[in-house]
Amino acid sequence: MKLSHLLTSAVSLLSLGLEVEGFSRSRNDAVGPKRPFKPLPHSHPRKKVCHVRSHGDGTDDSDFILSALNHCNHGGKVVFAADKEYTVGTALDLTFLKHIDLEILGRIQFTNDTDYWQANSFKHTFQNATTFFQLGGEDVNVYGGGTLDGNGQIWYDLFAEDALILRPILFGVIGLHGGTIGPLKLRYSPQWYQLVANSSDVLFDGIDISGYSSSENEAKNTDGWDTYRSKNIVIQNSVINNGDDCVSFKPNSTDILVQNLYCNGSHGISVGSLGQYPGEVDIVKNVLVYNISMYNASDMARIKVWPGVASAMSEDLQGGGGLGAVSNITYEDMYIENVDWAIEITQCYGQKNLTLCNQYPSNLTISDIHISNMYGTTSGARDPNVGTIVCSSPDVCSDIYVDDIDVVSPIGTNDFVCTNVDESLLQVNCTSG
Ligand SMILES: *[C@@H]1O[C@H](CO)[C@@H](O)[C@H](O)[C@H]1NC(C)=O
Ligand SMILES: *[C@@H]1O[C@H](CO)[C@@H](O)[C@H](O)[C@H]1NC(C)=O
Ligand SMILES: *[C@@H]1O[C@H](CO)[C@@H](O)[C@H](O)[C@H]1NC(C)=O
Ligand SMILES: *[C@@H]1O[C@H](CO)[C@@H](O)[C@H](O)[C@H]1NC(C)=O
Ligand SMILES: *[C@@H]1O[C@H](CO)[C@@H](O)[C@H](O)[C@H]1NC(C)=O
Ligand SMILES: *[C@@H]1O[C@H](CO)[C@@H](O)[C@H](O)[C@H]1NC(C)=O
Ligand SMILES: *[C@@H]1O[C@H](CO)[C@@H](O)[C@H](O)[C@H]1NC(C)=O
Ligand SMILES: *[C@@H]1O[C@H](CO)[C@@H](O)[C@H](O)[C@H]1NC(C)=O
Ligand SMILES: *[C@@H]1O[C@H](CO)[C@@H](O)[C@H](O)[C@H]1NC(C)=O
Ligand SMILES: *[C@@H]1O[C@H](CO)[C@@H](O)[C@H](O)[C@H]1NC(C)=O
Ligand SMILES: *[C@@H]1O[C@H](CO)[C@@H](O)[C@H](O)[C@H]1NC(C)=O
Repeated sequence: MKLSHLLTSAVSLLSLGLEVEGFSRSRNDAVGPKRPFKPLPHSHPRKKVCHVRSHGDGTDDSDFILSALNHCNHGGKVVFAADKEYTVGTALDLTFLKHIDLEILGRIQFTNDTDYWQANSFKHTFQNATTFFQLGGEDVNVYGGGTLDGNGQIWYDLFAEDALILRPILFGVIGLHGGTIGPLKLRYSPQWYQLVANSSDVLFDGIDISGYSSSENEAKNTDGWDTYRSKNIVIQNSVINNGDDCVSFKPNSTDILVQNLYCNGSHGISVGSLGQYPGEVDIVKNVLVYNISMYNASDMARIKVWPGVASAMSEDLQGGGGLGAVSNITYEDMYIENVDWAIEITQCYGQKNLTLCNQYPSNLTISDIHISNMYGTTSGARDPNVGTIVCSSPDVCSDIYVDDIDVVSPIGTNDFVCTNVDESLLQVNCTSG
């Protein structure tokens, strides 16, 4: 088929010449109760609508999607219909988007072709991350309450056989400047649900995450969000049912606000891991985490930094020896239930030998940390402890404040492990370390 035919058959295009219903309200008004670190840019009203067609039989709909996006780029809205199923079997580079809305009402699923995706997904050097697609550009809103389904089961089973396969991340926000993502449902991601890299001024609002393995092979590394090389990001009003970090701030995440989340089954809200790559400088600063309910998790507030010596976490995760700083991190107002560690701060990530960790202290400093107002109960997995704050040397940790912690273990204890840290700033019972 000629390209021109393809374009006209792929979309039905309406040029209305007037503002279409969409995302014209100010993004700033949508953020609350805490304000974003910096004001978010205004989204311009859209003036035309494109409807995406689908084969509806599992055939790849990528060409339909691309032509609708091309037609409605620069001021339009692209609609994925509520009564349609869309299939994506091609890695889509969507970094050309500008002043466009994607209203996803129906369901988009990614094919099960693990060989194709491993060869063609977008490769990002950081932690071998790959994505099904990359969405970027300027002033892009994705909403509608529809579903993106990563068809993760085949990947969970394949990963159990070979830990080095490259499992795609469901939603890649790469190089997006200005945008609102959500409400949306994200299901069965092969790996992390969302990577936010090289981006700024993006609001995630109303993301609903869930996806469990139906075989004996767990859905692993299913982080809700990983932010990387990004600034002024807001994540709020979302429900996350997963099995790894609820939100994770990876290298060079600054000015990040996270509020009103309900996390279940996760590894908590984590800074890091950082300092993984020798000689590289990782910065995470100005992070505010507010009003979180955390259930059935390994951690609530977590900071994980690799030591100054090479260490191995697992077959596919090694590191240590990096440089940088974690500073001005605040966790405020948190409820926990069945969580192993209420607080876990470590500069010995991946290194079980603490003597060795202390011998090669981390070159990545931790300072200006404020954790306050947490209540609830732990799981008892770390009894009698409920928290742990372990620095690799007192010289590389400073101003770590912890107060208003009303957390107990099921046996009624509230002990903390405190090592190489100024205990006078910790309003907790440091009993060992
Ligand atoms: C992928 O596999 C699952 C399970 O076998 C199946 O339900 C689903 O329809 C498949 N999806 C595609 C797009 O092939
Ligand atoms: C981000 O930008 C850098 C520098 O331009 C580039 O090397 C990298 O591939 C981009 N993407 C990610 C995911 O970091
Ligand atoms: C990336 O993958 C390679 C092999 O595919 C593996 O050796 C390496 O450990 C992985 N790196 C990370 C940081 O996971
Ligand atoms: C805290 O978050 C929950 C949703 O998890 C929300 O219902 C509640 O209103 C929020 N509280 C405040 C003070 O915003
Ligand atoms: C919460 O997580 C547990 C696993 O930790 C899971 O069994 C349960 O189904 C999850 N709840 C929901 C509502 O998904
Ligand atoms: C992070 O920021 C530091 C300081 O600006 C810079 O040296 C480093 O290269 C950045 N790292 C990445 C992965 O962009
Ligand atoms: C530190 O973070 C807080 C929010 O928790 C913010 O109000 C403040 O401006 C930040 N400090 C600096 C120096 O940026
Ligand atoms: C926590 O997990 C248990 C079982 O694993 C489940 O019954 C419970 O609903 C979970 N809590 C939430 C809030 O989902
Ligand atoms: C831990 O490291 C120390 C210092 O390098 C070393 O002497 C010791 O043998 C190590 N212990 C184990 C169990 O590997
Ligand atoms: C990093 O720390 C290690 C051990 O603590 C030290 O030997 C090394 O010189 C440091 N590297 C840099 C670049 O500062
Ligand atoms: C420390 O434990 C004692 C009981 O052993 C208790 O009275 C006190 O309130 C605890 N302090 C904190 C900060 O939890």
